[in-house]
Formats: sequence, C-alpha cells, structure tokens
Amino acid sequence: MLEVMAEALAGEAASGAIAHAFPDPEGEATWLRYLLSSGTGWVAESEGRLAGFGITARRGPIDWLVSLFVRPAAQGGGLGRRLLERLWPPAPTGGRATLVDASSRPATSLYLHAGLTPRFPVLAFEGTFGSRPGGAPAARNDEDATQPQVAELDAAAFGAPRTGDHVFWTKTGFGYRSLYDADGAWLGYGRWTPAGRLGPVVLREGADWLGALAALADEAARAGAGRMRLLVPAVNGGALEACRRMGLRYQGSEIAMATCPLDGWSRCLIHRAGLP
Ligand SMILES: CC(C)(COP(=O)(O)OP(=O)(O)OC[C@H]1O[C@@H](n2cnc3c(N)ncnc32)[C@H](O)[C@@H]1OP(=O)(O)O)[C@@H](O)C(=O)NCCC(=O)NCCS
Repeated sequence: MLEVMAEALAGEAASGAIAHAFPDPEGEATWLRYLLSSGTGWVAESEGRLAGFGITARRGPIDWLVSLFVRPAAQGGGLGRRLLERLWPPAPTGGRATLVDASSRPATSLYLHAGLTPRFPVLAFEGTFGSRPGGAPAARNDEDATQPQVAELDAAAFGAPRTGDHVFWTKTGFGYRSLYDADGAWLGYGRWTPAGRLGPVVLREGADWLGALAALADEAARAGAGRMRLLVPAVNGGALEACRRMGLRYQGSEIAMATCPLDGWSRCLIHRAGLP
C-alpha cells in the first residue's frame, strides 16, 4: 500500500503540486494500520498485483474517505471509481467527506460525481513562531483531567467525540496541551507530532488564535520540535491571520469536500489531510 501511495503521489510532487510525496514511511504505515483497525478498506488487484486501495473511517455522522490511490500505470481504467463505490456504497447512512489536493483534477472530478460539494480550501503553512507574546494563554499538560471537555469540544468542531483518535495520538508520541486564559478558564487544546506538525487544535468560540498558536508552538519547541507545519481551514479567520502575522510560508492547499456543511471548522486546525 505504501508503494502504491508513493507511486501515485510522485507525479504530483514532481510537478510541484504538493510539497513532499512521502516524508515518513514508518509513520504512514502506523497510520494506515490504525485507519484499517478503525475503518473499512478495499484493495484492487490486477494480474496478482496490488493496483490500488482505499480506506474510509466513520467519525460520528460522517464517513471520511481517508485514502484513495491507484498506481499510475492503472489509472484512468475505472479502478478509482469502483473502489469508491465499495467505500461509499450508493445508499448513504450518513454524511460523506474528504480532502482533495487542489491540483488533482481526477480526484476532484471523481468526488463531484459522488455528490460531494467543495466547501473551502484548507491551507498548509510552514515556519517558526518566534517568542510567545505577552498575554498568550497558559499551557498545561493535563490530558487525563480534561478528557470530558475535549470530547465536548471535538463534538462541536467535528461532529463527534474522538476518544479513539486521542488514544492513538498519545500512543504515537503526539504532544498535548490545554490552554487557559488569565482567569483560569479552559480555552481548548492543541496537539503536535514529534516531527513538528501542529494539529488538531480546537478552541472555544472567540479564542485568541495568535496567542494560542504561539503558546502551543513554544511548548512544541521546548519538547524538541522546531519548524511547524499547520493545516488551516480557510473558514478559521483567526488562525489564518495568526499565520500571516507570524510570517509563516504558504505551502499549498487542499479542498474540503463534503455532502454536509463543516461549520465547526472555523474553530480548529486539522490533524492531516486524510482525517481531520
Ligand atoms: C484519483 C484516483 C484515485 C482516480 O483513480 P482512477 O482509477 O484513475 O480513476 P477512474 O479511472 O476510475 O476514473 C474515475 C473518474 O475520475 C475522473 N478522471 C480520471 N482521470 C482523469 C483525468 N485525467 N482528468 C480528469 N478527470 C479524470 C473522471 O471523472 C473519471 O470518471 P469518468 O471517466 O466517468 O469521467 C487516481 O488518479 C490517483 O491515485 N491519483 C493520485 C492520488 C490522489 O490524488 N488520490 C486522491 C487523494 S484524496
């Protein structure tokens, strides 16, 4: 599966459409195994060889298409469409959503045919945050104590509590911090990977994104992560403004496509393109 993924993405990386094709094979393998343990997967074989695969994962009311790849040599022959029909059977029991690379014409066309509507871009940024500004929220490593609040906030942002995802993230070394304002009120939480990917971050309505992202980046830097990479939904104006003020560099975008509105995304950064 990793080989199919690398081949399918190599063309896009070579054309400069995506920043990197395959940064961390071991991490991807762990991620695919987790997705398969909590979702549904199909493979397509041709002449005894794996030609493509796809995985969907249900989170609350939405079936997320988290992976769909067909080897370049097998593309254009109907495999992508047939895999998608298995992954998203014709009679839907819930909503459907995915993120598609902004430059991928075949994938966009395929998902439009499947009834998904483009909602908004999700922009990738990279850079360093500098020092934490005065008045930035206080950060605490109190994951166990804040589980109920996190579940509530995730339900508001993503439509479902994500207990299993949090267990996986903690097990695979993601950092966690809660953020608190000067009066001690809980503002939300943020996570980051050891390699410096910030997200998911979910904050209460009206939170100060500039201070919050600076505080989380500062915590991540102390824990050894240097440059940060972020995936910012365009509907999260506070986070976009924070990236602009911090001088982060824009890397490219994906389009969030869904059968339903993704309103809660105005208060989050997502984890990765495959699953928020
Ligand atoms: C997207 C992808 C999975 C499609 O698989 P595929 O087997 O090539 O697709 P199919 O042959 O089944 O074609 C399905 C539809 O895709 C669209 N499509 C396929 N090739 C296309 C092209 N060159 N230009 C525009 N649309 C195209 C068409 O709508 C087509 O349906 P139609 O022929 O009835 O119009 C495959 O191209 C791929 O792996 N791409 C790289 C990785 C990627 O972008 N994955 C999606 C991540 S979310």
